[in-house]
Amino acid sequence: GAPAEVDLAKLAPGAIMTVGWRGKPVWVLHRTPAMLATLGNHNALLLDPNSTTDQQPDYARNPTRSREPAYFVAIGICTHLGCVPVFRPEPNAPGLGADWPGGFYCPCHGSKYDLAGRVFRNMPAPLNLEIPPYTLLPDNKLLIG
Ligand code: FES
Repeated sequence: GAPAEVDLAKLAPGAIMTVGWRGKPVWVLHRTPAMLATLGNHNALLLDPNSTTDQQPDYARNPTRSREPAYFVAIGICTHLGCVPVFRPEPNAPGLGADWPGGFYCPCHGSKYDLAGRVFRNMPAPLNLEIPPYTLLPDNKLLIG
């Protein structure tokens, strides 16, 4: 399939967009400093905080799981049975628990992922969200694929 190009200038801080790539939804989230600050606080609650077991590009093996911390790019498909998780960025969101740091919630069987797509422990999903191949281009463009 052809690569998908995204204009990052159109993505405000805190906003997320979904781009189709190879028949899959790919999320591009512009993480704010406040969102990034949540990522260091709950490693003990994560199944694989350093993404050691996943099939991932090398640039996803860091605490933000990204090439550029402000931009989170992930395939928006739950690693359990393939539902599309819901973006729930607000900390302590009702129904998601007092320790919810903001992230993605899968409505099918309740798996929870943080704002780097890292799955929490004791969830049906066995892996962190998959990170697709992508490149950051000059002029604030992102190329997926
Ligand atoms: Fe997401 Fe089952 S498909 S928790």
